[in-house]
Amino acid sequence: MKVAVLTGGGDCPGLNAVIRSAVRKGVQEYGFDFVGLRDGWLGALQDIVVPLDISSVRGILPRGGTILGSSRTNPFKHEDGVRRIKDTLAKHQVDALIVIGGEDTLGVATELSAQGVGLVGVPKTIDNDVSGTDYTFGFDTAVGIATEAIDRLHTTAESHMRTLVVEVMGRHSGWIALHAGVAGGANVILIPERPFDIDQVCAWVENRFRTNYAPIVVAAEGAVPKEGQMVLKDQSLDEFGHVRLSGIGEWLAQEIEERTGKDARTTVLGHIQRGGTPSAFDRWLATRFGLHAVDALKDGDFGTMTALRGTRIVRVPLTETRTTTKVVDPSLYDEFEVFFG
Ligand code: F6P
Repeated sequence: MKVAVLTGGGDCPGLNAVIRSAVRKGVQEYGFDFVGLRDGWLGALQDIVVPLDISSVRGILPRGGTILGSSRTNPFKHEDGVRRIKDTLAKHQVDALIVIGGEDTLGVATELSAQGVGLVGVPKTIDNDVSGTDYTFGFDTAVGIATEAIDRLHTTAESHMRTLVVEVMGRHSGWIALHAGVAGGANVILIPERPFDIDQVCAWVENRFRTNYAPIVVAAEGAVPKEGQMVLKDQSLDEFGHVRLSGIGEWLAQEIEERTGKDARTTVLGHIQRGGTPSAFDRWLATRFGLHAVDALKDGDFGTMTALRGTRIVRVPLTETRTTTKVVDPSLYDEFEVFFG
């Protein structure tokens, strides 16, 4: 069998670990041949195909990013997209694809699978918002980075007795904000799933000052005030129709400073959360996903996605993962209310 691998959407730590394990098992155990498609669906559309063998995956396990490159290309926004992808696959005699991506990339995979392209999906994203799997790889690394940042911000916030707001990634889901906020002992955690009341936020901040501690506010980039809208970086949309977020941290710091009369500053963690070496857990999960994706191809189990359920890796139909974004359950958020303020 000849297999093409692609990585699409925002990169995350662990992508290379999937590529490595899929190639190692595919070549060594099943005698598969591999190629890589460059830059996600763009490589499939534009016939940018690179060799992929055991020597090309050596040494990449601890490396962040993706050796195949990535993009937010949506083939359905390009003329004759599906036909062009099928032509590329036919030209290189590719029998099946391993598609490593988040919601958008896997959405395209689901549609292509329905149109007869043999493929298996692997869920990735620091946001942890893909339905059907308990965790995506990349998330653990991002939470570790954000937690370390919060730990560091505590000491400087306390030296100056000021509020520090930390803006983390997460457009529609507050997984990073919640996990890093809890792990880092934040006093306020704001997530997109729960529109916040700025008066309440300021009351929590004041309360923290009263007990002689400096407040740390963690906000997901998609967090929204009850009366207000998401703060956008600009008006541009990507090919999947997503706006660019960022700015809620700055907005919060200004409001908090004005309303409490005390200094407030913002740190936007941005792409630092996505870069660099994957955590041990992400390497472990990504490696297992790669191994299981190759097994699914071997079994001809196309149209499925590898998923973590408890400690087991299972295959779920891609169609089942498409209906919703995996968001933070309100009762989970409420568990931590005791730490707010
Ligand atoms: O990978 C998902 C994500 O991390 C979102 O949380 C964030 O909004 C987005 O990527 C930003 O990605 P980029 O700047 O690469 O478009």
